[in-house]
Amino acid sequence: MEPDDKENECPRLSEMVPGMAGTFKALGDHTRLQIIYLLSTDTSGTLGVSDLAARLGISQPAVSQHLKTLKSEGLVESRREGFFICYTVNRDRIMQFREQFDLMYASVMEQCNREMVRKSTRDRNLRACVIFYSYSGITRRVAEGIRNASGCDLIEVRTKTPYSSFTAYTTGVIRSRKMACDQIEPAEIDVSAYDFLIIGTPVWAWKPSPAINGAVQALKGCEGKMAVVFTTCSNQPGEALPLLSKSLADRGVRVMAEISLDAEDTKNPDAGGELLRKIIGADPLRSLESGTPGTGQQTIRDVKS
Ligand SMILES: Cc1cc2nc3c(=O)[nH]c(=O)nc-3n(C[C@H](O)[C@H](O)[C@H](O)COP(=O)(O)O)c2cc1C
Repeated sequence: MEPDDKENECPRLSEMVPGMAGTFKALGDHTRLQIIYLLSTDTSGTLGVSDLAARLGISQPAVSQHLKTLKSEGLVESRREGFFICYTVNRDRIMQFREQFDLMYASVMEQCNREMVRKSTRDRNLRACVIFYSYSGITRRVAEGIRNASGCDLIEVRTKTPYSSFTAYTTGVIRSRKMACDQIEPAEIDVSAYDFLIIGTPVWAWKPSPAINGAVQALKGCEGKMAVVFTTCSNQPGEALPLLSKSLADRGVRVMAEISLDAEDTKNPDAGGELLRKIIGADPLRSLESGTPGTGQQTIRDVKS
C-alpha cells in the first residue's frame, strides 16, 4: 500500500473500530446469535417476541432484552402490524458490518503477506514487477494486492484506444480470438532491471486479452527472465493461460507457474495475497536461487476445470 492510501485508511479504521466492537459484543452471545439465525431463516417475516420465546424456550422479557440490544446496534429492525410487532434482520447493517470486517481482514492479511514474503525471499533483494491489463478493475485489484504484500513494482498496461462495454464484446472478443496485439501504453516495457515477472490479464473469449498480447510484444530485456502468469475470469479460463505462456516463451521468458482465478476467488478481499501464496508455494524462487533460468523446469498449472 502507498503511504497516501495508508493515511486514508487509518482514519477509516479508527472510525470503524468502535462500531465493530459494539456489533461483535451484541453478536457475542449465544441467544442473540440464535435470534439472528431464526430471523434470517424465517420466510414469513412475521416473527414476534412470543414466537421467538417459544422457539428458544426462554421468557418473553428475556427475548425483548436481547432484541433491544440487537436493535441498538442496528442489526434487527421492527415494524408494527396492528397490535403485533414483527422483527427482521437489517440487511444493510449486516452488509456494512461485513464490509468493515473485510477491510480489517484485508489489512491484517496484508501484514501477514508481507511477513510471508519476507520469510520466503529470506530478505534477498529480489526485484519483481507485476505487469497487468485490467478492463473492469478486477485484475487491477489482484495486482495491487500483490504489490501491497510484496512491495514489488506495478506496471499497468492500457490500450491506446479504450474499449467501451460494446467494443469489448465485439472488436475485443474478435481480436482476442485471433490472438491479436492491441496498441498499448507504455509502448515499451523494459524489464531488464527485474529478476521476476508476474503477468496478469482478464480472460476474453477463453484467451488472453489483446492488450496483454500487446504487452508481451512490448517487453524489452525479457530474454531468460522468470515469470508467473495469472488470469482472472468469470469461470472459464479456456486456453488463456497456456496461450499467454507460449507467447512469453516465444519471447524467451521462462514461465514457472500458471494460475487462474475465477469470480469466486477474486471476491476475496485478499485475492492478491492468496495469489502470492500460490506463487510462493510454486517456489519459483528456488530455481532463481539455483541460477538456471531458461532451462527445463516443469511449469506448475493451477487451473480449475
Ligand atoms: C470481452 C470480455 C470477454 C470475456 N470472456 C470471458 C471468458 O471467455 N471466460 C470467462 O470466464 N470470463 C470472461 N470474461 C469475464 C472476465 O474475464 C472477468 O470478469 C475478469 O475477471 C475481468 O477482469 P478485469 O476487471 O481486470 O477486466 C470476459 C469479459 C469481457 C469484458
